[in-house]
Amino acid sequence: MSQSPPRISKAVIPAAGLGTRFLPATKATPKEMLPVVDKPAIQYVVEEAVSAGLDDVLMVTGRNKRPLEDHFDRNYELESALEKKGDAERLVKVQESSDLATMHYVRQGDPRGLGHAVLCAAPHVGHEPFAVLLGDDLIDPRDPLLQRMIEVQETYGGSVVALMEVAPEQVHLYGCAAVEATQDSDVVQVTGLVEKPSPAEAPSHYAVIGRYVLDPHIFAILRETEPGRGGEIQLTDALQKLAEAHSTAATAAGGVGGPVHGVVFKGRRYDTGDRGDYLRAIVRLACEREDLGPDFRAWLKRYVAEEM
Ligand code: UTP
Repeated sequence: MSQSPPRISKAVIPAAGLGTRFLPATKATPKEMLPVVDKPAIQYVVEEAVSAGLDDVLMVTGRNKRPLEDHFDRNYELESALEKKGDAERLVKVQESSDLATMHYVRQGDPRGLGHAVLCAAPHVGHEPFAVLLGDDLIDPRDPLLQRMIEVQETYGGSVVALMEVAPEQVHLYGCAAVEATQDSDVVQVTGLVEKPSPAEAPSHYAVIGRYVLDPHIFAILRETEPGRGGEIQLTDALQKLAEAHSTAATAAGGVGGPVHGVVFKGRRYDTGDRGDYLRAIVRLACEREDLGPDFRAWLKRYVAEEM
């Protein structure tokens, strides 16, 4: 009897970075807790994992990250104060984040890079494919990406990254992928990856953005991965080894860990760890909100017309 592969149910959210681009706001507050309209950025990310069917969430945290754990926990004092006031609407908002998913936490003692943060998830994840969602990368809820990546992983096996076409002058901010077409128009095979290349080194305009579905073999590779760019253990370097191992005949013996594919994303995405993108996320999401949008849009139009 053939066994179907395990359904992907675990999401790992690395949120242990220092957030230096957002200092001084992030001196004592995790950047993932900065509000995007009226919810912390990290709540959108957990909601996204849950709507893709991942109800087991492991957050990789570090020093100064206690508010992240508190946000997804009950706050009985606040709940009873709201109950006493009869403020049912706000009570629901407070309870929403603690009822979302089964949350787990692991600490990354030293922020030694994204690859190292993912490696901290190994004991929790075990031997199943799993998703990684970067805690500061916000994908607009109306442009689902993770569901498609999970489908692609189920079809092709191995690992799947999310790719977005960026302008040549932006490529140095991302991991960049060399790709080959597949029979699916939104899917490419990744044949190589370079972390933050110069425009001359960049193999394409496809940037890796903060969503991954990974084969657990990545952990063995990460254990052997030396610090790379910026002295950090880079997830891109480990994925590069997987992509290479699967595309060269010498090491393709069984293709341990499987190939790496990319889903090309054309939707709306914001890097909330970047100040400009953070502001754009707030303006866009506020404009589209039913409760705040009409007033805010009217003000914004006046502001642009009169003051810009
Ligand atoms: P970034 O590259 O945005 O780094 O990390 P950062 O340190 O958080 O922010 P800046 O560049 O100093 O402003 C991408 C993701 O990887 C996580 C971050 O929390 C973020 O979600 N990360 C990074 C870790 O969890 N651990 C690390 O050691 C590094």
